[in-house]
Amino acid sequence: MKRVQYDRHGGPEKMYFGDFDLPPVGDGEVRVSVRAAAVNPLDWKLRQGAMKLFTGRRFPKGMGTDFAGIVEAVGGKVTDLKVGDEVFGTVDFRKSGAFAETVLVDAGQVARKPSQLSFAEAASLPIAAMTAWVAIIDKARPRSGTRIFINGCNGAVGAFAVQLAISHGAHISGACGPASRASAAAVGVGRIFGYADRQAYAQYGKYDAVFDTLGTLDIGHGLSMLNPKGVFVDINPTPGRLIRGMLSRRYKLAFATMGIKHLPAIAELAGRGTLRPTIGLEAPFTDALSVIADAETGSRSSPGKAVLAFEGAGQAASIARR
Ligand SMILES: NC(=O)c1ccc[n+]([C@@H]2O[C@H](COP(=O)([O-])OP(=O)(O)OC[C@H]3O[C@@H](n4cnc5c(N)ncnc54)[C@H](OP(=O)(O)O)[C@@H]3O)[C@@H](O)[C@H]2O)c1
Repeated sequence: MKRVQYDRHGGPEKMYFGDFDLPPVGDGEVRVSVRAAAVNPLDWKLRQGAMKLFTGRRFPKGMGTDFAGIVEAVGGKVTDLKVGDEVFGTVDFRKSGAFAETVLVDAGQVARKPSQLSFAEAASLPIAAMTAWVAIIDKARPRSGTRIFINGCNGAVGAFAVQLAISHGAHISGACGPASRASAAAVGVGRIFGYADRQAYAQYGKYDAVFDTLGTLDIGHGLSMLNPKGVFVDINPTPGRLIRGMLSRRYKLAFATMGIKHLPAIAELAGRGTLRPTIGLEAPFTDALSVIADAETGSRSSPGKAVLAFEGAGQAASIARR
C-alpha cells in the first residue's frame, strides 16, 4: 500500500510516496482503511526530527497521525469493534503513518465516528481536540463564570479550547491574527486582541487561566495576567519549560497523548455539535506532499484544517504513475 514516508529527518523535500507492507494485525490492534487524514503541526515537527529521542532511528518512517476510516480487520482480543465500523483516531506518534491507504493502530486509540460527522470532520478532531481537552478540562478546570485567555484562539487547538471552555460556562478572551478575527468571534471569543496588543490583554480584569496554544506568550507576562490562584497552560514544551512545569503549581504543560482516554467523550461532544471542526482544505491523497508542505510553510491561503481524502485503488494507481 502507498503511504507518505521519509528516510531522513529534514524539510518537506524529504517526503515521498512509498510502498509499505503493514505487519499482521496484533491481538489488541485494528486495521483501518483510511478515508480521511488531517494535517497537524506535529506531523512536520516529527519529520524535522524534533522528537528524535522518542521516535528512534529506524527508517523509513510514515507520516501522519490523525485519521478516520473503516475497520477492515480486528485483532483477537478486540471485543468492542468489528469489521465495517466507522472509526476515527490517532496513531501512536512513535509509529506514525496515517497519511496512508491503511493504518494499523491500537484499538484503544480509536473511537466510533459520530454519524453526524463526515470522515474529514472526524479526522480533524483527535490531536487538536484531545490537547484542548487536557489543557482546558484537566488543567484550567472551567466552571460557570471562569475567565480564560487563549493565545492563538483560532488555531485547531485554540478553537476547540474555546468551544470546550464555553460549554462549561467560561468567558473567553483571546489573541489571534487579523485573518482569524471573524472566525474567532464566530466560535465564541468575547474579547479579541491582536498579538501586538499584549499589554492590553488583562485591561478588563485578570484571568483564572491563560492558555498559550502557540508558545509565543512570555511566561512571566502570562503569569502576571492571572488571579492569585490562576494557572498558565502551555502545549509547546522546551527542555526549560518541561522543568518549570514539574516545579511550578501555576505553570502547567499539557500533551495530546494524555488525552486518548477522552476520545469517546470528544466523539460524543462532536456528535452533539458542541465541538465543530473548521476544515479549510480538503484535497485528494495524491496531493499530500504539496498540502503538507503548504501547511508547514504557512503558504496555504485557505484558513482552517487541511485534510487529505482517500478514494481507493484508482488513487493508488495515480500515485504509482508519479
Ligand atoms: N503538546 C501537545 O501535545 C500539542 C498538541 C497539539 C498541538 N501542539 C502545538 O500547538 C501549536 C498549535 O497547534 P494547532 O494544531 O492549533 O496549529 P494550527 O491549527 O496550525 O494553528 C496555529 C495558528 O495558525 C493560524 N490558523 C489556524 N487555523 C486558522 C483559521 N481557521 N483561520 C485563520 N488562521 C488560522 C492561527 O494563527 P493566527 O491567530 O495568527 O491567525 C493559529 O493560531 C503547534 O505548535 C503544535 O505543535 C502541541
